[in-house]
Amino acid sequence: MSKSKVLVVGSGAREHALAEKLATSPKVERVFCAPGNAGTAIVAENVPIGIDELDKLVQFAKASNIGLTVVGPEAPLCAGIVDRFQSAGLRIFGPTAAAARIEGDKAYAKRLMRAAYVPTAEARIFDRYADARAYVATRDDGLVVKAAGLAAGKGVIVCSSSAEAILALEQMMVKREFGDAGSTVVVEELLQGPEVSVHALIDGRTIYLLDSAQDHKRLGDGDIGPNTGGMGAYSPAPVATSEVLAIVERDVLVPIVDALRGDGAPYGGILYVGLMMTPGGPKVLEFNCRFGDPEAEVLLPRLNYDLFDVLSAVVDGKLADMEIQWDSRAAVSVVMASEGYPAKPQIGKVISGLDSARRLPDVHVYHAGTKRVENLVVSSSGRVLAVTGLGETIQSAKKAAYSGVEKIQFEGATFRRDIADKATSCI
Ligand code: AMP
Ligand code: GLY
Repeated sequence: MSKSKVLVVGSGAREHALAEKLATSPKVERVFCAPGNAGTAIVAENVPIGIDELDKLVQFAKASNIGLTVVGPEAPLCAGIVDRFQSAGLRIFGPTAAAARIEGDKAYAKRLMRAAYVPTAEARIFDRYADARAYVATRDDGLVVKAAGLAAGKGVIVCSSSAEAILALEQMMVKREFGDAGSTVVVEELLQGPEVSVHALIDGRTIYLLDSAQDHKRLGDGDIGPNTGGMGAYSPAPVATSEVLAIVERDVLVPIVDALRGDGAPYGGILYVGLMMTPGGPKVLEFNCRFGDPEAEVLLPRLNYDLFDVLSAVVDGKLADMEIQWDSRAAVSVVMASEGYPAKPQIGKVISGLDSARRLPDVHVYHAGTKRVENLVVSSSGRVLAVTGLGETIQSAKKAAYSGVEKIQFEGATFRRDIADKATSCI
């Protein structure tokens, strides 16, 4: 059996989890990570190329004879990394720029959903501030104002009054706090209900739902404080019953995959659907063109299947032949962030206890924002680590995850103590 070299693009805990899993495949000779972090350096070889350096990534993949490239974050996908690799004859997992628009352009996603009758929040799209303001001023209920472009997870503002919505519009369209991402805005009705996210592998035509996972977006215990990239996650998610998943497949995934194909943008890769369970059924909040982070850190450790085979089946259009197995145990992941995250993270803190946490049974320590400085590991961005525990139940997985967190120290370490509690309170 000939073995492949694999390149993982990105530098977060999601990419550490991808690299770690790929490194266990008997079909993988070696894993590279660009640019990676101090954790990926344990399971892969880091390559000092940034995620936006598409020419250099193509050159590296060609020169190093990379058999499969896997892209973690949305930015290079929206910038066309897949198109570039494909034109160079290189195998790569992820959607083309045209298909990644489903995440990169919320106005496009909304129009596509409308045309395909996909249930989603009612919305209006504006590219002129005066029009947006005039519309918002007539509304006295809650609204959500979204920058249409990519804004690193910060471009969504939930507003409880029209005054707040006007401030949000000013931030995006007048002060241009999100740059070009805010030149078009989507103004949505405020939906109520528990959130659920669904991940599906798609090879252009075949749809394969992964086991369920759910994240915690707010910074503080009890779901208070600012929205973040995600402070923790658990899998499976009890709210995603098989009935809910069947509805999402029938009413969201099948029509949207058809609509993308009809639009000349067949989808290949993983599609993440963020939904709200409203009294009127599940409605789409957003699509992401990649694995969730930290959802990947609870899904991948539960995958009892060769990840290289799974990703290759997507790239080769052979998903219909796949029968993925899952570990029956639950997984819970707790994100350890820097003090001041998300607004002003204090970085450069020395991290200790990583090895003793890693040696615990049923614990994975995934690095997010870390780097090695001589023989020390120091924090280098807002989210620093994602500590995942596995257990027979959500409660025992939570216990394992926090036993790992307790072993790790760095100044100002910030984490929630209630990760996965909403999994047990909703059943
Ligand atoms: P998004 O990036 O679009 O998923 O938005 C980030 C978060 O904002 C979501 O996870 C929800 O918590 C919240 N949100 C987005 N859209 C809505 C909506 N229409 N109604 C209520 N909350 C929303
Ligand atoms: N955890 C949310 C996201 O990855 O977008």
